[in-house]
Amino acid sequence: AESHKHDFTVQQTRVTRLCRTKNIITVNGQFPGPTLTVRNGDTVVVTVVNRARYNVTIHWHGIRQMRTPWADGPEYVTQCPIRPGGSYTYRFTIENQEGTLWWHAHSKWLRATVYGALVILPKQGSNFPFSLPQKDFPVILGEWWNRDIIAVQRQAQFTGAAPNISDAYTINGQPGDLYRCSTQGTVKYSVNPGESVLLRVINAALNQQLFFSVANHMLTVVGIDATYNKPFTTNVIMVGPGQTTNVILTANQSPRQYYMAARAYATVRNGQFDNTTTTAILEYKNLNSGANSRPLLPQLPAFNDTATATAFANRLRGVPNNNRVPNQIDENLFFTVGLGLVNCTRGPRCQGPNNTRFAASMNNISFVLPRRTSLLQAYYQKIPGIYTLDFPRVPPVQFDYTGNVSRGLWQPRFGTKLYKLKFGSNVQIVLQDTAIFSTEDHPIHLHGYHFWVVGQGFGNFNAQTDTANFNLNDPPVRNTIDVPVGGWTVIRFVADNPGVWLFHCHIDSHLAWGLAMAFIVENGIGEKQTMEPPPPDLPQC
Ligand code: C2O
Repeated sequence: AESHKHDFTVQQTRVTRLCRTKNIITVNGQFPGPTLTVRNGDTVVVTVVNRARYNVTIHWHGIRQMRTPWADGPEYVTQCPIRPGGSYTYRFTIENQEGTLWWHAHSKWLRATVYGALVILPKQGSNFPFSLPQKDFPVILGEWWNRDIIAVQRQAQFTGAAPNISDAYTINGQPGDLYRCSTQGTVKYSVNPGESVLLRVINAALNQQLFFSVANHMLTVVGIDATYNKPFTTNVIMVGPGQTTNVILTANQSPRQYYMAARAYATVRNGQFDNTTTTAILEYKNLNSGANSRPLLPQLPAFNDTATATAFANRLRGVPNNNRVPNQIDENLFFTVGLGLVNCTRGPRCQGPNNTRFAASMNNISFVLPRRTSLLQAYYQKIPGIYTLDFPRVPPVQFDYTGNVSRGLWQPRFGTKLYKLKFGSNVQIVLQDTAIFSTEDHPIHLHGYHFWVVGQGFGNFNAQTDTANFNLNDPPVRNTIDVPVGGWTVIRFVADNPGVWLFHCHIDSHLAWGLAMAFIVENGIGEKQTMEPPPPDLPQC
């Protein structure tokens, strides 16, 4: 196994998109940031130097961080932020993970421009479970705002109103041909006729689930969130924020240019969303005549096509060497996830619906990050008064979660409440979408873990009938899972990685409104089950 050393300088960089030039925060002046390519079993050492004017942290999304929770990155959860002028070295080893992950800032909404791909190849001498593709490309989907992203975040957080929607979607940082002033920068992927191409599709958008398709080409799905799945072929995929999907395409069409394109899958009722389309070009070498005509656009589903999104999710099946899903459950948890409204006295801070503010919650607790220190430091050093351990295992009141529920029943409470898990316990979490303000999809991400997705459905979860239908045979394994609009998802995992692990909605506006909680996983017995001590350069608050 190898060790990969990198320097990440977080800095302000001037870029031009959609006819305007502005400053954004980047790593090493690159947007998207550098792609890290490693092998399963390798060690990664990244020194982050903060030359920007904001605090920052970097999260290695989906990396298990076995015994190294200090390198996970979410600010105030596993570390205090790196101050301007400061630095911190993230050091971790890849253990039994292959496929596509990514890294992003986990501080305010800086991940809008601070992100990059993390490609994990099989160990030296071992192969993909599919034939080696001739080309291997990251396809990172993002969202672009003309306004400064911190201003967009402040507006949403200060006023309690929905955030401004993005001005464009992007592929590898470029909006593409269909937007103003964007033709020059449009990303081109060049292929030889007959080649097979691995596209590593990453949804790095802040607030939007996306459909993705390539004109005239079928996509064979071979991996999700750095795990393998049973391959299947489709013309469209749906990727939620935080998720990755590896697809193989064969360049078997007549040699010309084809668009690959991404567009919103937006489930919120009456909600506003960016309804534009981003494109990149798949270009065959040796273009024949006809090559000068415009590339073909793929047919993408309508923004509210839940049937297509659901059908896609249902086709995802794990492979046998993903280990066996636990049968016996030690911790049976039921968490509601959803938006809510809190009463608010009139004023600029009450610009949500009817002079309220948005607050999002799990089990009616709207999560508040500490400021004095990180949760992991508080836990490790036994600092009192930073968090409590009373996160409820079930909702405080039970009702028809997907019906139209009165607000009086469900006023989120604010708190820094955690839930403690014994090392090695088998955990099941039912995630139930609620409809207090509106029903919508929530891509829920668990740090430090992979989980099995054993069930998914619409309506209220029914412990008798739905449990009987769980897929314990070949469930897909992921780190981020969609809780469908007006429905539920059930996940299982084994608490084999000690530390403090954030569990949250990967839509940044929902995270900012509190759609999060955190688990403490206690140490087990012996070195292999015990978290490492903090590195000496761990930033202090
Ligand atoms: Cu990709 Cu908590 O994040």
